[in-house]
Amino acid sequence: MPTATDREPADSLGSQMLCCKSIDKLIADADEPGHRLEKKLGPWSLTALGIGAIIGSGIFVLTGTAAAGEHFEAPSILHAQVLDLLVNLLRTGSTAGALMHGRPAAGPSIAISFLLVAVACSFAGLCYAELASMIPIAGSAYTYSYATLGEIFAWIIGWDLILEYVVSNVAVAVGFSGYSKAQLAAFGINLPEKWASPVWASGHWTGAYFNLPGFLIVFLLTLLLVRGVRESAEANNVMVLIKIGAILTFLVVGGMLVKPANWTPFAPSGFAGIVTGGAIVFFTYIGFDSVSTAAEECRTPQRDLPFGIIASLIVCTLLYVGVAVVLLGMLKYTNFVSGEAAEAPVAYALKVLGAHPFYRSIIVVGALMGMISSLLVFQYGQARIWYAMSRDGLLPKLFSAVHPRFKTPHWSTWIACFAVGIPAGMVDIGDAADLSNIGTLFAFTLVSLGVIFLRRRQPDRPRTFRVPFVPWFPLISVVLCGGLMTGLTVITWIRFVVWLAIGLMIYFFYSRHNSEFAKRAS
Ligand code: ALA
Repeated sequence: MPTATDREPADSLGSQMLCCKSIDKLIADADEPGHRLEKKLGPWSLTALGIGAIIGSGIFVLTGTAAAGEHFEAPSILHAQVLDLLVNLLRTGSTAGALMHGRPAAGPSIAISFLLVAVACSFAGLCYAELASMIPIAGSAYTYSYATLGEIFAWIIGWDLILEYVVSNVAVAVGFSGYSKAQLAAFGINLPEKWASPVWASGHWTGAYFNLPGFLIVFLLTLLLVRGVRESAEANNVMVLIKIGAILTFLVVGGMLVKPANWTPFAPSGFAGIVTGGAIVFFTYIGFDSVSTAAEECRTPQRDLPFGIIASLIVCTLLYVGVAVVLLGMLKYTNFVSGEAAEAPVAYALKVLGAHPFYRSIIVVGALMGMISSLLVFQYGQARIWYAMSRDGLLPKLFSAVHPRFKTPHWSTWIACFAVGIPAGMVDIGDAADLSNIGTLFAFTLVSLGVIFLRRRQPDRPRTFRVPFVPWFPLISVVLCGGLMTGLTVITWIRFVVWLAIGLMIYFFYSRHNSEFAKRAS
């Protein structure tokens, strides 16, 4: 494998694909005039950025359905879980049993799923923290892979991160549209259906023209993001406070409506329900990794990035477990199978149990703020990844242009706007969360491996934050993330592989000819 010093030109395609960027050069490149970002963020802004990304639509939408389970009307191999298929294949030599299962209910034990996923994320979070403190450069896992595993892995992970950020934000923007439409209707303001619904849903054209609220929210956030990172971070801080306030309100008001009998049976499907619930609610934790995309805009990245990653994970875990315990104590898990109870379980539980409309409004505003701030941070992070890949020559230079006055990567921010806003105006992506989950879990796996590689290759490089018990902790992270990936369905795996295949075609036809290593070789 080529050395990590990267100074020698790549002499063949094989060696170019495994070339690693030197960390010193990455840091020097980031300081080049015309590509330099402004350094404005401190530890609390980073923590707020993490919470802003993590708490989005997931906790307000997925908790109920993950607890209630799902019965597949028409069993199909595409909707079977990979783990279930493997287990059935090993046990019976056939996949038929897996096709009939549907998704087991976690019931109140969804609180344990939230805890387990938090543990899995913490191992990955520690790995992100070590690499982010060593390589404080925009681009997150993409940049770490370029410094540790080689160009082809960096490309794969960058392409994978784009999937994570674009698809999850499409889902959140569509969720925002549905939620705000319903709330406006409650105030007597009815948006025209044809301009506020997906154009394509459940495999059919709906007759609608465009889902305008989903597009508009992304467009407005882009204006803010182009304007400046400090302005965006300040807006995010306010939204984070509102959504935490809303969740705390729910814990108090909902806590008074709990009937302990609803907590039994606690785990109706045993461990299978807990794991399956975990694969779904993993979506609610996606986002802590986006703290690391802000590395170049931190005042003291080596100290503050690990703090921001770990602190945001801890705060969100406490809030999530609290919401799960209270929600599943308010109503029996079987209530959340379908309809309004499945789509907005938190608001639904408060409504049917007769909570005062004032408290319900607080929760709704908090949920909307949650979605807006999650959209904001993911759009922010996505633009930084386009930007970092372009700076390395893997994408056209336009993506890394910095606005002369606002010092933000304005082109990649606008490209991210349309990459998310247009699909958000068109589709109703039921499977978006799953696709985003698989992309993120794959990124976590590569980052964890990156820690082990870099400890071997560059043991003496200063690390202000060190993962304890290397290689065991990163390996536990790989196993836990791989385990959660097998909880996802076959169709999700197929979509993921198709996305990676498209990415590899772009790499071989464009990026490898334009990367810095290719240029040095010529
Ligand atoms: N974690 C984010 C959410 O729950 C993506 O919406």
